Amino acid sequence: MTNLKGKKILLGISGSIAAYKSAFLTRLLVKEGAEVQVLMTPSAKSFITPLTLATLSQKPAFSEVSSEEGWNNHVEMGLWADAMIIAPATATTLAKMSIGLADNIIVATYLSARCPVFFAPAMDLDMWAHPTTQENVRRLQNYGNHLIPVGEGELASGLAGPGRMAEPEEIVEYLRRFWQQEQSLAGRKVLITAGPTYEPIDPVRFIGNRSSGKMGVALAEAAARRGAAVILVLGPSRLSPQQPGIQTIRVETADQMHKVAVQHFPAADLAILAAAVADYRPQEASLQKIKKKSDTLNLELTKTPDIAASLGRSKKPGQLLVGFALETQNELTNAREKLEKKNFDCIVLNSLQDAGAGFNYDTNKVSILHKNNKIRNFELKSKAAVAEDILNEVEALLR
Ligand code: C5P
Repeated sequence: MTNLKGKKILLGISGSIAAYKSAFLTRLLVKEGAEVQVLMTPSAKSFITPLTLATLSQKPAFSEVSSEEGWNNHVEMGLWADAMIIAPATATTLAKMSIGLADNIIVATYLSARCPVFFAPAMDLDMWAHPTTQENVRRLQNYGNHLIPVGEGELASGLAGPGRMAEPEEIVEYLRRFWQQEQSLAGRKVLITAGPTYEPIDPVRFIGNRSSGKMGVALAEAAARRGAAVILVLGPSRLSPQQPGIQTIRVETADQMHKVAVQHFPAADLAILAAAVADYRPQEASLQKIKKKSDTLNLELTKTPDIAASLGRSKKPGQLLVGFALETQNELTNAREKLEKKNFDCIVLNSLQDAGAGFNYDTNKVSILHKNNKIRNFELKSKAAVAEDILNEVEALLR
C-alpha cells in the first residue's frame, strides 16, 4: 500500500462549516508522514483557527499573500508541493479557481502550482446543484484538477442531500490510490500516435483534418504519470506535452508517422493509436505553388499506409494494440469491423453525434469495445479523465 511518507502537501482551507474536518485531515496526513503546509482564506478563520492548524501541521498556517511580517511566497509553495488539496472548497473558491481570480493565498498558489490538484467541495445541496457551480467544477476538471466527490447526507443548513465534504479518511485514501495508480505502468513502454496528418499538395497547401491532438496528448501524459516510458508520435498540433517521461517525435505526413510508429512498435508493450491519419494523399506533391488557371483542378489521390493495420499484422503475443474510431453513422458496427480488421485488442469509439465529443473539444464521450463484444460506455468527461478511463481499461488487459 502506497504511503504518503515524505509527500509535500498544500492544504487549502476555505470558509465552510466543513473546515473543522480539515483539522482531522491535517492530523491524518501528518500521521501518514506527509509534510503539510496549510493555506486558509480569510473567511476560513471564522470557522477554525490558524493556531489549531499550525499546531497540527507543525508549520505556520498562512492566510494572507502578504502581511507585515513579509510576503508568503505562493510561487515557491506552488513549486514545492507534490500535491495541493483544497478542502473544503466552497462555491466561491471553486468559482475563483475556475476564472483565476487570485485575490487570496489559496487561488494565488493554485495558479502557480505545477503539482496535481485535488478539490473536495462542501456546500448546501442547492448551491452544489446550481448550474454555475456544476459548470465551474467541470471547468476545473477540464483543466486536469481532480474532483473528490461530495458525499450525501445531513447538511449544515438542516437540509439533506449531496454537498457534504468527503471525510478526511476518504481524502487520504483518494491520494493514496492516486499515487499508487501512478506507478502502475512503471517499466512499460507505451507508443502513442496523436494529432492530424498534413498531406502536401504543393509547398504551401495540404490536405489535413480538424484533429487537435488533445486526446492523444492526454493519454501520453496520463501514461507517463503512471510511470510508463512514452513515445508520442505527434502530427502537426499546437500542443507540446511537458510531462517528464514522454519522448515526443513530431511528424507531418501519414508516411512519416507510419515510419516512426513501425520503428518503435517492436519495443512497446502497448500502442494506442489516437491519431486522425489521412486516408489519402495527393499522388504527387507539386514542387512549385500551383497557379490558379482553369476553373477546375483535379487532384489525384492515393492511399496512405494504414499504420494501425501494419502494427496489427506485426503484433506479438503480450503486446496490446488499442485503436480509436470516430464515426458519424453506424458507430458500433463500424467500430467492431475496425477492431477485427486491424487486429486491435480494444477500440475506443467516439461519435461526432455527441455534443462536446470529438475534435478540438476539451471533453469527450467514449465507449470502449473489447474483442469479446464486451462494451463499456462512459459519460462526457474531460479528455484527461477519459485518458484515465482508457488506461484503467487497458491496464486490466495488460495484467
Ligand atoms: O481512420 P480510421 O477510422 O480507420 O481510424 C481507425 C484507427 O486506425 C485509429 O486508431 C487511427 O489512429 C488508425 N489509423 C492508422 N493509420 C491510418 C488510418 C487510421 O493508424 N492510415
